Amino acid sequence: MAAPSTFAPRLTAADLDGTVPDLLAAPAIRWGVLGAGNIAGSFSDGVRERTASDVVAVGSRSLDKAADFAAAHAPGARVHGSYEALVTDPDVDVVYVATPHSHHLEHTLLAIRAGKHVLVEKPITRSVAESETLLAAAREAGVFCMEAMWTRFLPHVAALRAAIARGEIGQVRTVVAEFDLAVPYDPAHRLFAPELAGGALLDLGIYPIAFAHDLLGAPETITVRGTRAETGVDDHVALVLDWSDGQQAVLHTSSRAAGPNAATIIGTQGHIEIPRSFFTPTTMTITRADGTTSTFESPTGEGKAYEAAEVARLVTAGATASDRHTWADTVEVMAILDEARRQLGVVYPGE
Ligand SMILES: NC(=O)c1ccc[n+]([C@@H]2O[C@H](COP(=O)([O-])OP(=O)(O)OC[C@H]3O[C@@H](n4cnc5c(N)ncnc54)[C@H](OP(=O)(O)O)[C@@H]3O)[C@@H](O)[C@H]2O)c1
Repeated sequence: MAAPSTFAPRLTAADLDGTVPDLLAAPAIRWGVLGAGNIAGSFSDGVRERTASDVVAVGSRSLDKAADFAAAHAPGARVHGSYEALVTDPDVDVVYVATPHSHHLEHTLLAIRAGKHVLVEKPITRSVAESETLLAAAREAGVFCMEAMWTRFLPHVAALRAAIARGEIGQVRTVVAEFDLAVPYDPAHRLFAPELAGGALLDLGIYPIAFAHDLLGAPETITVRGTRAETGVDDHVALVLDWSDGQQAVLHTSSRAAGPNAATIIGTQGHIEIPRSFFTPTTMTITRADGTTSTFESPTGEGKAYEAAEVARLVTAGATASDRHTWADTVEVMAILDEARRQLGVVYPGE
């Protein structure tokens, strides 16, 4: 008979070595938001509410829209009716590029060529080729550049990595993760429009893929099965990633199904479950082979503040890249996305 499960006392971040950074201790920098859309709103709220930094300027293709955005998410920010005006604003230290990924290369190059540091929403571009162009420009300009893979900076992910490093579940053998979101079909929607680099993979699938890559690195082989929407972009995709020593990731993404958006890391001596939504601030439960369990609960609040605070620290220190989400990480994840699209026959306009 299996030993009864023993629930260990709730562990603190310190117990799990999952350092919860003091967001307010990060230096203050001045953010400029490029593209007054949905995610730019929550990012700006996080910066203003949880860090010492401020959003000092907003750039939109429409001055009225920039003003509305500032009123809602960045009171007092200077408003610009073009992205060109935003990137030349002398009061902006770092530009946060929050346009659709089809336009990340063009809009990020604008900022880099104006000498600005950049944080670019995920995925950094549509493809490895575009990423390499973007990163080469950042290298040449000597500016800070990072893809906004905010999950990597969340407290429960730090706790997860610390627990794995301590051998709490033995050796990691399998990562199971999905991000399935039911989005009403609309050929003009960001998730379905080829001209906006639509598809579940680049928008949603990047989360489980980057998560598996964070724990296991670049895979040896990539096997993909899936379907495409009427517009030709992927909409329901299963991926199996294999590593040479037998480790596997079993991942799924969909714009047509409503999933739990959970992740499980299975090791030789236990497993770790991260419930909905594994890529946002949430809980993490370790179940060991002896039946004992421990749970870590993330602080609440806008999670994009963690990446924003990290960028503030790095830029102030004179760094040009993050060692937690490196340029190599960005390109390796992009390479998995490229290969998945190749296997499904998804090609974007101009490729
Ligand atoms: N980190 C996260 O949790 C998260 C979540 C969702 C999305 N994202 C990423 O963030 C990016 C933006 O997503 P979103 O949901 O914020 O999109 P959104 O609400 O549609 O906003 C995108 C903004 O980009 C600007 N834009 C410039 N050219 C455009 C074009 N041709 N078509 C449409 N908009 C254009 C628009 O701003 P102006 O009109 O003001 O110029 C628009 O408001 C995507 O790369 C996405 O993958 C990240």
